Amino acid sequence: MSDENVITELVEKMTLEEKAGLCSGDDYWHTKGIPRLGIKRAMLTDGPHGLRRQVGKADHLGLNQSVPSTCYPAGATAANSWDTELITQMGSWIAEEAAAEGVSVVLGPALNIKRNPLCGRNFEYYSEDPFLSGKLAAAYIRGIQAKGLAACPKHFAVNNQERLRMVIDALVDERTLREIYLLPFEYAVKEGGAKTIMTSYNRVNGEYATESPHLLEEILHREWGFSGVVISDWGASNDRVSGLKAGNHLEMPSTGGESDEEIIQAIRSGRIGEELLDQRVRALLRLIRETAPAVEEGRDYSREEHHRHAQEIAEKSMVLLKNNGSILPLAPGTRCAVIGDFAETPRYQGAGSSIINPTRLISPLEALKASELEITGYEPGFHRFGKRSERKKERALALARRSDTVLLFLGLDESTEAEGLDREKMALPENQIDLLRALSRINRRLVVVLAGGAPVTTPWDAEVQALLHGYLGGQAGGAAIARILTGEVNPSGKLAETYPHRYEDIASSAYFPGREKTVEHREGLYVGYRYFDKAGSAPKYPFGYGLSYTSFAYSDLKADQPGAEFFVTNTGKRRGAEICQLYIGAEESRLFRPERELKGFARIELEPGEAKRVRIDLDDKAFAYYNTAAKSWMVDPGRYQIAVGPSSRDLPLRESLTILGDGGPVPYSRKLFPSYYSGNVANMESAEFQRLLGRPLPDPHWDPAERIGANTSILESAGHKGLGAFLYGLIRFLQPFCRYNLKKSTALQASLFMPYRSLVKMTQGLINTPMLEGILTMANRRFFKGTAQFVRAWKKRRREQ
Ligand code: BGC
Repeated sequence: MSDENVITELVEKMTLEEKAGLCSGDDYWHTKGIPRLGIKRAMLTDGPHGLRRQVGKADHLGLNQSVPSTCYPAGATAANSWDTELITQMGSWIAEEAAAEGVSVVLGPALNIKRNPLCGRNFEYYSEDPFLSGKLAAAYIRGIQAKGLAACPKHFAVNNQERLRMVIDALVDERTLREIYLLPFEYAVKEGGAKTIMTSYNRVNGEYATESPHLLEEILHREWGFSGVVISDWGASNDRVSGLKAGNHLEMPSTGGESDEEIIQAIRSGRIGEELLDQRVRALLRLIRETAPAVEEGRDYSREEHHRHAQEIAEKSMVLLKNNGSILPLAPGTRCAVIGDFAETPRYQGAGSSIINPTRLISPLEALKASELEITGYEPGFHRFGKRSERKKERALALARRSDTVLLFLGLDESTEAEGLDREKMALPENQIDLLRALSRINRRLVVVLAGGAPVTTPWDAEVQALLHGYLGGQAGGAAIARILTGEVNPSGKLAETYPHRYEDIASSAYFPGREKTVEHREGLYVGYRYFDKAGSAPKYPFGYGLSYTSFAYSDLKADQPGAEFFVTNTGKRRGAEICQLYIGAEESRLFRPERELKGFARIELEPGEAKRVRIDLDDKAFAYYNTAAKSWMVDPGRYQIAVGPSSRDLPLRESLTILGDGGPVPYSRKLFPSYYSGNVANMESAEFQRLLGRPLPDPHWDPAERIGANTSILESAGHKGLGAFLYGLIRFLQPFCRYNLKKSTALQASLFMPYRSLVKMTQGLINTPMLEGILTMANRRFFKGTAQFVRAWKKRRREQ
């Protein structure tokens, strides 16, 4: 019998309760099994840069321990490799570990666009550019799925701030939505063939992503032809039945049967037909059955080998930002002081649901001591969490005086880059900069190694000779750093995001984060380098930039519509890898658009003196824009420039092409959209943004007179007297006690952003909706009535159980 027939038969045999039950988790990490029909439970697990398989207590913020697995470099790091083959391998290595642990669905890749450098979760995401993000995501997915498991690209969609992530409404115009925020997911689905996708917590233009007919039914299912399983982010489900209708299959985690009951009632009352549920169940059964063989065959893997793989990714991903007078690589025997807390206690991953319990951990200090350098000593130099310490500084200065070269390890600490919270500023802590300045006065040979998963401002970099960005290098990152500093490895990573001079240089700086109800994407298409190029302002380190110990020359570009060819020669003395980039821009355009956009890239290895011909094929989106009037991608006829080179700001090869295109009217007049045409979008007026959005801007502010409801966040309710203020006060009161437990203190802070709904959606049945109603009554200052309601609901539930 064919698989589809087996599934049809199973669906026929399943009761309504069993079908509804399959649409939500059994617990935190599993779907429900139905033993009488031989339907097994399937396990889903984070993701994305390794495996966070919990066996004891479960949570979605990495609070509880998980079994050891290889901690690969975080998404922000691996993206700098621009190496799709390597990312596919990374996917397959993670899949081997997943299969060995009985995991069917790996919750990754994470590919939200880095709209703003302060988003607290940027370390997990790939890039500010949708093409690069999409291509890397598709590569990762292919790696996972080639091993018979399913990947789960996340978080669909426009989830680019952590503040109030479970309630915030992302306002974004349709063209920007398609060209910037959805495009990477389109690649993930169409090129990666993702078998599942995770819907995000937030609302998009007024609708929760997890129940948005526009995102799920129209775009994902109908336009992109997605036939897999849509999974809500943990606790993202709001109205379960609307979600199911829109195209969501699986709610995670379990709600103790509560949402199953909602589905059953919706069918009994005729709100939805049973065929709809059957369709969702079919997709779920397909997923469970398709992934089962790989899980059953899962074998143990070599920890040692995977550790080496993690190191290889790190080595190809770190970015050399500065190297004055070729101070790097350091010759054997160079007398180096190692200074900075991050050398001994590395930052190697971000905090939250992606946190991996590594199988090993190599610190840069350990790796440097094992190298051929002469290490004169180690001093932490500063307090990791920003406290000043003259003693630490003085000891570091004394060590620097005794050494020829100073290797200074700076970075962002664990609490700064954590899921659930955004960063407050781009600068490194003052105590680190202060030490850097003091060291640079003593020892001119100052090399800084940075740790962190997102851009920092570097107003101090004129004082250092070399700057290596180690990003978050995973468990073997320390070894990769040492090998790059000593030249055993030639650095080859290039930035997948722009580093500005100042935070204010970022297009969205005035609109980020959304503070209360909405987050307005007023800058439109001009995210990252698209803004810097359009506005003609200079970034500190541009998108696509990164140095090598060798040099490359570009020549002989030949371009046509299907693709471009050119030569790259290694003109230096070492073997090295170069990341060649191809951008396309319209020479004169009838519509507003970025100056140029990344449309192709290739990573090549070259021996000294070697030249290679590079071919980059263009896809159907290379010249296209999303036409909102026609509701489709179209190509505007005209002349386009193909520009090729080593970074977005260094494009030596250029050629013009005439493209015939689709013609027809363009939806934007210059008069109505002057700032979008000029690129002057950092102070966008409401009226112009509103025109682009195509509807009145909703009030961004909370209304203190509004009733506290299931979707009110604790933070918002703090403004009302009563329970909300009490909960807020309690959280604030508890915070100092968790000061030394970073995981707990960030989780506590993030809990302020949670809506009351989470009490039902995240407690696996401990609290049900009638109990929540009681809590909400209390929060609305009817304390005694609410308590009675709560107790009644609690007793009723106990009786039923
Ligand atoms: C995160 C997801 C993650 C899930 C399960 C959520 O809080 O946003 O990325 O997969 O938890 O841990």
